[in-house]
Amino acid sequence: MGVVSEKPLPYGRQLIDEADIDAVVSTLRGDWLTQGPKVAAFEDRLAELTGSKHAVAVANGTAALHLACLAAGVGPGDTGVTSTITFVASANCIRYAGGRPLLCDVDPETALLDLASLRARVAALAARGTPPKVIVPVDMTGAVPDLRAVREIADSVGALVIEDAAHALGATYGGGRYRAGGGAHAQMATLSFHPVKHITTGEGGAVLTNDDALHRELLDRRTHGITKDPSRLRRNDGPWYHEQQSLGFNYRISDLQCALGLSQLEKLPRFVERRRELAALYDRELGRLSEHVSPLRVPEGCSSAYHLYVVRIRAAEGLPLSATAERRLSVYTKLREANIHPQVHYIPVHTQPDFVDHGLGEGDFPGAERYYAGALSLPLFPAMTDDDVLRVVEALAAAVR
Ligand SMILES: Cc1ncc(COP(=O)(O)O)c(C=O)c1O
Repeated sequence: MGVVSEKPLPYGRQLIDEADIDAVVSTLRGDWLTQGPKVAAFEDRLAELTGSKHAVAVANGTAALHLACLAAGVGPGDTGVTSTITFVASANCIRYAGGRPLLCDVDPETALLDLASLRARVAALAARGTPPKVIVPVDMTGAVPDLRAVREIADSVGALVIEDAAHALGATYGGGRYRAGGGAHAQMATLSFHPVKHITTGEGGAVLTNDDALHRELLDRRTHGITKDPSRLRRNDGPWYHEQQSLGFNYRISDLQCALGLSQLEKLPRFVERRRELAALYDRELGRLSEHVSPLRVPEGCSSAYHLYVVRIRAAEGLPLSATAERRLSVYTKLREANIHPQVHYIPVHTQPDFVDHGLGEGDFPGAERYYAGALSLPLFPAMTDDDVLRVVEALAAAVR
């Protein structure tokens, strides 16, 4: 084995410039480190960019999902549905709130939730007398599923839609008419600002909503369930007085983080555009490997924000899924040897031991299993060069040879 001389290419990473560093340093020199003016400014800008009325910035994307479930009224005895191909947080949030998450299948060509599976799951729950309180569609890889159809299914049983838009800041759907997280079809949407996402605050997240009552509930629950609003107090002992009116958390984000977030948001359009250019280059270059490797399909009318660039590694026609899985492992290993670090998004939630052990893995998910056997996320981040993409494609070509 020769010495690997080329630079490592991770599947994703942040892009921090001097303006970001200056923004954080100038906040450090100021008066506010925790809840100051940068938090509100960051929320305003997020709302503006997504077309949502309100944004509530929080400690991370998982906290955003938890708060959204609480605001939706999920509690013990309730159920909620999400797809099995997602980060575990999309399902865990229902559990945190005391509910039982049930899963649905995905379309293996898109990794987005399969509407027939969602309909069947929701109908079965309704027939058992436990219709879901929430449906959590996931904008997997940066593409948006058919949220209009999801909303119809949710409305038919009185469920709220929480769009997990952690992958999709900057995406549009409906032929450009709707923005991910904008609330055209979901009552709430959540974002994550983990460093591999479109913009980063270190750790961070947000809930977006157009609903004033949900907004108030989210604000309360972010800070211990405490309100200082004089019009809502049950009594008032003086100017210091506040009340805990529900059980909330310290899920606050800091001014330091939001200073970084605001500076990063300035670059969001450029970041998303660069992701799309790199994805288009991958699409074009992978054409010659189409027998072995196929990119995920982006649904009609959707302009993906490309948080991830996922390909499906294929085995010869007629072979069992285990052959696909073996080939994916071999490709993964060969890319690593070339100092390229792909990742797999995601291990199906229904196979996670903690879900199986709690009886939450039930169901038939052939689409997810087919997707998972061959899925591989190739490096994609705004600082990548065109030559980096060509290097990955060459390494892939060698790996499937
Ligand atoms: C689809 C999805 N939902 C939720 C989350 C949770 O976000 P965070 O890591 O900020 O808690 C992530 C992050 O990795 C994610 O990819």
